[in-house]
Amino acid sequence: IRKKRVLSMIQPTGMFTLGNYLGALKNFVALQDDYECVYALADLHAITVRQEPAAFRKNTLSAYAMMLALGIDPEKSIFFIQSQVPQHAQLAWVLNCHTQFGELSRMTQFKDKSAKHADNINAGLFTYPCLMAADILLYNADYVPIGADQKQHLELARNVAERFNGLYSPTFVVPEGLIPKTGARIMSLQDPTKKMSKSDENTAGFITMLDTPDQIMKKFKRAVTDSEACVRYAEGKDGINNLMGIYSCITGKSYEEIEKEFEGHGYGDFKTAVGEAVVAELGPIQKRYNELIRDKAYLEKCYSEAAPRAEAIARRTLQKVMKKVGY
Ligand code: ADP
Ligand code: NA
Repeated sequence: IRKKRVLSMIQPTGMFTLGNYLGALKNFVALQDDYECVYALADLHAITVRQEPAAFRKNTLSAYAMMLALGIDPEKSIFFIQSQVPQHAQLAWVLNCHTQFGELSRMTQFKDKSAKHADNINAGLFTYPCLMAADILLYNADYVPIGADQKQHLELARNVAERFNGLYSPTFVVPEGLIPKTGARIMSLQDPTKKMSKSDENTAGFITMLDTPDQIMKKFKRAVTDSEACVRYAEGKDGINNLMGIYSCITGKSYEEIEKEFEGHGYGDFKTAVGEAVVAELGPIQKRYNELIRDKAYLEKCYSEAAPRAEAIARRTLQKVMKKVGY
Protein backbone atom coordinates (compact mmCIF):
# COMPACT_ATOMS: atom_id res chain seq x y z
CA ILE A 1 0.00 0.00 0.00
CA ARG A 2 1.22 3.47 -0.79
CA LYS A 3 1.93 5.89 1.98
CA LYS A 4 -0.56 8.72 2.41
CA ARG A 5 0.57 11.93 0.76
CA VAL A 6 1.17 15.17 2.62
CA LEU A 7 1.41 18.53 0.89
CA SER A 8 2.62 21.77 2.38
CA MET A 9 4.09 25.01 1.15
CA ILE A 10 5.66 28.01 2.78
CA GLN A 11 6.34 31.47 1.41
CA PRO A 12 9.97 32.47 0.89
CA THR A 13 9.51 36.08 1.92
CA GLY A 14 12.33 36.49 4.41
CA MET A 15 14.32 34.41 6.85
CA PHE A 16 12.08 32.01 8.79
CA THR A 17 11.41 32.75 12.44
CA LEU A 18 11.57 30.41 15.40
CA GLY A 19 7.75 30.50 15.16
CA ASN A 20 7.82 29.16 11.58
CA TYR A 21 10.31 26.50 12.68
CA LEU A 22 8.61 25.25 15.83
CA GLY A 23 5.09 25.78 14.50
CA ALA A 24 5.51 24.33 11.02
CA LEU A 25 8.92 23.41 9.64
CA LYS A 26 10.07 21.07 12.41
CA ASN A 27 6.86 19.17 11.81
CA PHE A 28 7.50 19.03 8.03
CA VAL A 29 10.72 17.22 8.86
CA ALA A 30 9.04 14.74 11.21
CA LEU A 31 6.28 13.94 8.69
CA GLN A 32 8.85 12.64 6.20
CA ASP A 33 9.11 9.39 8.16
CA ASP A 34 5.45 8.45 7.88
CA TYR A 35 4.19 10.10 4.71
CA GLU A 36 5.11 10.72 1.12
CA CYS A 37 5.76 14.43 1.40
CA VAL A 38 5.47 17.10 -1.27
CA TYR A 39 6.86 20.44 -0.11
CA ALA A 40 7.34 23.69 -1.97
CA LEU A 41 8.32 27.29 -1.61
CA ALA A 42 5.17 29.25 -2.45
CA ASP A 43 6.83 31.97 -4.48
CA LEU A 44 3.72 32.61 -6.60
CA HIS A 45 1.82 33.45 -3.43
CA ALA A 46 4.61 35.77 -2.33
CA ILE A 47 3.91 38.38 -5.02
CA THR A 48 0.45 39.12 -3.66
CA VAL A 49 2.56 41.53 -1.64
CA ARG A 50 5.08 43.70 -3.53
CA GLN A 51 8.57 42.14 -3.59
CA GLU A 52 11.84 43.76 -4.54
CA PRO A 53 13.08 41.42 -7.32
CA ALA A 54 16.71 40.99 -6.25
CA ALA A 55 15.83 40.49 -2.58
CA PHE A 56 12.99 38.14 -3.53
CA ARG A 57 15.31 35.95 -5.63
CA LYS A 58 17.82 35.86 -2.79
CA ASN A 59 15.15 35.07 -0.19
CA THR A 60 13.88 32.17 -2.27
CA LEU A 61 17.32 30.63 -2.50
CA SER A 62 18.05 31.13 1.18
CA ALA A 63 14.66 29.68 2.16
CA TYR A 64 15.46 26.65 0.02
CA ALA A 65 18.86 26.23 1.67
CA MET A 66 17.36 26.69 5.13
CA MET A 67 14.71 24.03 4.55
CA LEU A 68 17.41 21.55 3.50
CA ALA A 69 19.54 22.61 6.47
CA LEU A 70 16.79 21.98 8.98
CA GLY A 71 16.11 18.52 7.65
CA ILE A 72 13.95 18.44 4.52
CA ASP A 73 15.41 15.51 2.61
CA PRO A 74 15.37 16.14 -1.15
CA GLU A 75 15.63 12.42 -1.87
CA LYS A 76 12.82 11.33 0.42
CA SER A 77 10.49 14.24 -0.30
CA ILE A 78 9.70 16.24 -3.39
CA PHE A 79 10.84 19.73 -2.45
CA PHE A 80 10.37 22.21 -5.28
CA ILE A 81 9.78 25.85 -6.11
CA GLN A 82 6.16 26.59 -7.04
CA SER A 83 6.85 28.96 -9.94
CA GLN A 84 8.88 26.23 -11.67
CA VAL A 85 5.78 24.06 -12.09
CA PRO A 86 3.37 25.88 -14.44
CA GLN A 87 0.35 23.71 -13.59
CA HIS A 88 -0.18 25.65 -10.35
CA ALA A 89 -1.16 28.83 -12.15
CA GLN A 90 -3.10 26.87 -14.79
CA LEU A 91 -5.24 24.94 -12.33
CA ALA A 92 -5.71 28.07 -10.24
CA TRP A 93 -7.45 29.71 -13.20
CA VAL A 94 -9.87 26.82 -13.58
CA LEU A 95 -10.55 26.89 -9.84
CA ASN A 96 -11.06 30.66 -9.91
CA CYS A 97 -13.95 29.96 -12.25
CA HIS A 98 -15.41 27.45 -9.79
CA THR A 99 -15.16 29.66 -6.71
CA GLN A 100 -17.68 32.28 -5.73
CA PHE A 101 -16.88 35.92 -5.04
CA GLY A 102 -18.84 35.59 -1.81
CA GLU A 103 -16.74 32.67 -0.57
CA LEU A 104 -13.51 34.57 -1.14
CA SER A 105 -14.96 37.68 0.49
CA ARG A 106 -15.42 35.76 3.71
CA MET A 107 -11.73 34.85 4.07
CA THR A 108 -10.45 36.52 7.22
CA GLN A 109 -6.87 36.51 5.98
CA PHE A 110 -7.93 38.60 2.97
CA LYS A 111 -9.59 41.08 5.29
CA ASP A 112 -6.48 41.25 7.50
CA LYS A 113 -4.04 41.51 4.61
CA SER A 114 -6.03 44.10 2.70
CA ALA A 115 -6.18 46.22 5.83
CA LYS A 116 -2.40 45.87 6.20
CA HIS A 117 -1.60 46.52 2.52
CA ALA A 118 -4.34 49.06 1.77
CA ASP A 119 -2.31 50.58 -1.08
CA ASN A 120 -2.13 47.27 -2.98
CA ILE A 121 -5.33 45.26 -2.66
CA ASN A 122 -4.71 43.31 -5.85
CA ALA A 123 -6.84 40.55 -7.37
CA GLY A 124 -4.15 37.98 -6.51
CA LEU A 125 -4.51 38.76 -2.83
CA PHE A 126 -8.23 38.11 -3.19
CA THR A 127 -8.00 34.84 -5.17
CA TYR A 128 -4.97 33.55 -3.24
CA PRO A 129 -7.08 30.73 -1.70
CA CYS A 130 -7.80 29.38 -5.22
CA LEU A 131 -4.09 29.15 -5.93
CA MET A 132 -3.64 27.43 -2.60
CA ALA A 133 -6.44 25.00 -3.48
CA ALA A 134 -4.64 24.29 -6.77
CA ASP A 135 -1.37 23.66 -4.88
CA ILE A 136 -3.06 21.03 -2.78
CA LEU A 137 -5.38 19.42 -5.33
CA LEU A 138 -2.75 19.01 -8.07
CA TYR A 139 -0.94 16.44 -5.93
CA ASN A 140 -3.96 14.46 -4.71
CA ALA A 141 -2.80 15.26 -1.21
CA ASP A 142 -4.48 13.22 1.53
CA TYR A 143 -3.32 15.55 4.29
CA VAL A 144 -2.34 19.16 4.66
CA PRO A 145 -0.61 20.15 7.90
CA ILE A 146 -2.21 23.39 8.99
CA GLY A 147 -1.97 25.98 11.67
CA ALA A 148 -5.15 27.52 13.02
CA ASP A 149 -4.69 30.52 10.72
CA GLN A 150 -5.09 28.33 7.61
CA LYS A 151 -8.16 26.28 8.53
CA GLN A 152 -10.44 28.50 6.48
CA HIS A 153 -8.28 28.12 3.37
CA LEU A 154 -8.24 24.34 3.62
CA GLU A 155 -12.01 24.38 4.05
CA LEU A 156 -12.29 26.37 0.83
CA ALA A 157 -10.03 23.90 -1.01
CA ARG A 158 -12.24 21.06 0.20
CA ASN A 159 -15.41 22.84 -0.87
CA VAL A 160 -14.06 23.63 -4.33
CA ALA A 161 -12.84 20.04 -4.76
CA GLU A 162 -16.23 18.65 -3.77
CA ARG A 163 -18.02 21.13 -6.02
CA PHE A 164 -15.85 20.18 -9.00
CA ASN A 165 -16.25 16.45 -8.30
CA GLY A 166 -20.01 16.94 -8.10
CA LEU A 167 -20.34 19.08 -11.24
CA TYR A 168 -18.28 16.74 -13.42
CA SER A 169 -17.26 13.43 -11.84
CA PRO A 170 -14.83 12.39 -9.09
CA THR A 171 -11.53 14.08 -9.98
CA PHE A 172 -9.90 15.49 -6.88
CA VAL A 173 -8.94 13.84 -3.60
CA VAL A 174 -10.65 15.90 -0.90
CA PRO A 175 -7.81 16.70 1.53
CA GLU A 176 -7.94 16.51 5.32
CA GLY A 177 -6.19 18.82 7.74
CA LEU A 178 -3.38 17.42 9.81
CA ILE A 179 -3.02 19.13 13.16
CA PRO A 180 0.59 18.73 14.28
CA LYS A 181 1.21 16.50 17.31
CA THR A 182 3.69 18.94 18.75
CA GLY A 183 4.29 22.48 17.65
CA ALA A 184 3.00 25.32 19.69
CA ARG A 185 1.86 28.71 18.51
CA ILE A 186 4.91 30.78 19.36
CA MET A 187 4.24 34.29 20.56
CA SER A 188 6.24 37.51 20.32
CA LEU A 189 8.90 37.80 23.03
CA GLN A 190 7.95 41.45 23.45
CA ASP A 191 4.17 41.10 23.33
CA PRO A 192 3.18 37.52 24.15
CA THR A 193 -0.44 38.16 23.15
CA LYS A 194 0.65 38.44 19.47
CA LYS A 195 2.12 35.62 17.40
CA MET A 196 5.83 35.74 16.70
CA SER A 197 6.22 37.16 13.19
CA LYS A 198 9.05 38.56 11.09
CA SER A 199 6.78 41.45 10.13
CA ASP A 200 6.86 42.65 13.77
CA GLU A 201 8.32 46.17 13.91
CA ASN A 202 9.93 45.32 17.23
CA THR A 203 12.77 43.06 16.12
CA ALA A 204 13.38 41.95 19.72
CA GLY A 205 9.99 40.20 19.49
CA PHE A 206 11.18 37.49 17.11
CA ILE A 207 14.12 35.14 16.67
CA THR A 208 15.16 34.22 13.15
CA MET A 209 16.82 30.98 12.14
CA LEU A 210 20.04 32.91 11.46
CA ASP A 211 20.27 34.95 14.67
CA THR A 212 23.65 34.65 16.39
CA PRO A 213 23.92 33.03 19.84
CA ASP A 214 24.51 36.48 21.28
CA GLN A 215 21.36 37.93 19.67
CA ILE A 216 19.32 34.93 20.80
CA MET A 217 20.48 35.15 24.42
CA LYS A 218 19.84 38.92 24.50
CA LYS A 219 16.31 38.56 23.09
CA PHE A 220 15.42 35.90 25.64
CA LYS A 221 16.89 37.92 28.51
CA ARG A 222 14.70 40.85 27.46
CA ALA A 223 11.59 38.73 26.95
CA VAL A 224 8.50 40.20 28.59
CA THR A 225 7.26 38.10 31.54
CA ASP A 226 5.31 38.89 34.72
CA SER A 227 6.14 39.80 38.30
CA GLU A 228 5.33 36.50 39.97
CA ALA A 229 8.85 35.06 39.54
CA CYS A 230 7.59 31.49 39.52
CA VAL A 231 8.02 29.23 36.49
CA ARG A 232 4.58 27.70 36.08
CA TYR A 233 2.06 27.44 33.26
CA ALA A 234 -1.03 29.45 34.15
CA GLU A 235 -3.60 31.82 32.78
CA GLY A 236 -2.41 35.42 32.71
CA LYS A 237 1.24 34.36 32.40
CA ASP A 238 1.46 34.69 28.61
CA GLY A 239 5.18 35.47 28.57
CA ILE A 240 6.18 32.52 30.74
CA ASN A 241 3.70 30.21 29.01
CA ASN A 242 5.32 31.13 25.69
CA LEU A 243 8.84 30.48 26.99
CA MET A 244 7.67 27.15 28.42
CA GLY A 245 6.13 26.31 25.04
CA ILE A 246 9.40 27.02 23.25
CA TYR A 247 11.43 25.07 25.81
CA SER A 248 9.01 22.16 25.66
CA CYS A 249 9.04 22.03 21.83
CA ILE A 250 12.81 21.87 21.78
CA THR A 251 13.56 19.60 24.73
CA GLY A 252 10.44 17.43 24.54
CA LYS A 253 9.86 18.01 28.27
CA SER A 254 6.32 18.37 29.57
CA TYR A 255 5.18 21.50 31.40
CA GLU A 256 5.20 19.59 34.71
CA GLU A 257 8.78 18.52 34.12
CA ILE A 258 9.77 22.09 33.31
CA GLU A 259 8.05 23.42 36.45
CA LYS A 260 9.99 20.86 38.51
CA GLU A 261 13.26 21.66 36.80
CA PHE A 262 12.96 25.36 37.66
CA GLU A 263 11.43 25.08 41.11
CA GLY A 264 13.09 27.66 43.32
CA HIS A 265 14.75 29.40 40.34
CA GLY A 266 13.97 32.92 39.14
CA TYR A 267 13.06 33.97 35.61
CA GLY A 268 16.68 34.89 34.87
CA ASP A 269 17.79 31.26 35.13
CA PHE A 270 14.82 30.06 33.12
CA LYS A 271 15.36 32.58 30.32
CA THR A 272 19.02 31.58 30.14
CA ALA A 273 18.04 27.93 29.86
CA VAL A 274 15.51 28.62 27.11
CA GLY A 275 18.02 30.77 25.23
CA GLU A 276 20.68 28.07 25.52
CA ALA A 277 18.27 25.40 24.29
CA VAL A 278 17.43 27.52 21.24
CA VAL A 279 21.12 28.24 20.56
CA ALA A 280 21.89 24.52 20.77
CA GLU A 281 19.00 23.64 18.45
CA LEU A 282 19.85 26.26 15.83
CA GLY A 283 23.65 25.86 15.93
CA PRO A 284 23.93 22.74 13.75
CA ILE A 285 21.19 24.04 11.42
CA GLN A 286 23.07 27.29 10.89
CA LYS A 287 26.33 25.44 10.28
CA ARG A 288 24.69 23.32 7.61
CA TYR A 289 22.91 26.37 6.15
CA ASN A 290 26.21 28.23 5.81
CA GLU A 291 27.68 25.32 3.86
CA LEU A 292 24.61 24.96 1.63
CA ILE A 293 24.16 28.63 0.79
CA ARG A 294 27.70 28.69 -0.60
CA ASP A 295 27.00 25.63 -2.73
CA LYS A 296 24.74 27.16 -5.37
CA ALA A 297 25.34 24.26 -7.74
CA TYR A 298 24.01 21.75 -5.23
CA LEU A 299 20.95 23.88 -4.44
CA GLU A 300 20.23 24.25 -8.15
CA LYS A 301 20.60 20.52 -8.65
CA CYS A 302 18.07 19.86 -5.86
CA TYR A 303 15.35 22.23 -7.05
CA SER A 304 15.82 21.51 -10.72
CA GLU A 305 15.47 17.79 -10.10
CA ALA A 306 12.44 18.30 -7.89
CA ALA A 307 10.43 20.41 -10.36
CA PRO A 308 9.96 17.68 -13.00
CA ARG A 309 9.09 15.14 -10.29
CA ALA A 310 6.36 17.50 -9.09
CA GLU A 311 5.31 18.35 -12.62
CA ALA A 312 4.84 14.69 -13.53
CA ILE A 313 2.14 14.43 -10.86
CA ALA A 314 0.66 17.87 -11.50
CA ARG A 315 0.41 17.35 -15.25
CA ARG A 316 -1.69 14.19 -14.86
CA THR A 317 -4.15 15.96 -12.59
CA LEU A 318 -4.41 19.02 -14.82
CA GLN A 319 -4.99 16.87 -17.92
CA LYS A 320 -7.90 15.14 -16.21
CA VAL A 321 -9.34 18.48 -15.13
CA MET A 322 -9.10 20.05 -18.59
CA LYS A 323 -10.78 17.09 -20.19
CA LYS A 324 -13.66 17.17 -17.70
CA VAL A 325 -14.21 20.86 -18.26
CA GLY A 326 -14.47 20.31 -22.01
CA TYR A 327 -11.10 21.26 -23.46
P1 ADP B 1 4.94 34.77 9.09
O1 ADP B 1 3.79 35.24 9.96
O2 ADP B 1 6.24 34.69 9.84
O3 ADP B 1 5.02 35.53 7.80
P2 ADP B 1 3.49 32.71 7.72
O4 ADP B 1 2.18 33.34 8.05
O5 ADP B 1 3.97 32.78 6.32
O6 ADP B 1 4.60 33.27 8.71
O7 ADP B 1 3.41 31.21 8.18
C1 ADP B 1 4.16 30.15 7.66
C2 ADP B 1 3.91 28.92 8.50
O8 ADP B 1 4.48 29.08 9.78
C3 ADP B 1 2.43 28.60 8.73
O9 ADP B 1 2.27 27.19 8.75
C4 ADP B 1 2.16 29.18 10.08
O10 ADP B 1 1.10 28.52 10.75
C5 ADP B 1 3.48 28.98 10.79
N1 ADP B 1 3.75 30.02 11.76
C6 ADP B 1 4.01 31.32 11.49
N2 ADP B 1 4.21 32.01 12.61
C7 ADP B 1 4.06 31.14 13.63
C8 ADP B 1 4.14 31.25 15.05
N3 ADP B 1 4.43 32.41 15.64
N4 ADP B 1 3.94 30.14 15.80
C9 ADP B 1 3.66 28.96 15.21
N5 ADP B 1 3.57 28.78 13.89
C10 ADP B 1 3.77 29.86 13.10
NA1 NA C 1 1.79 35.87 8.05
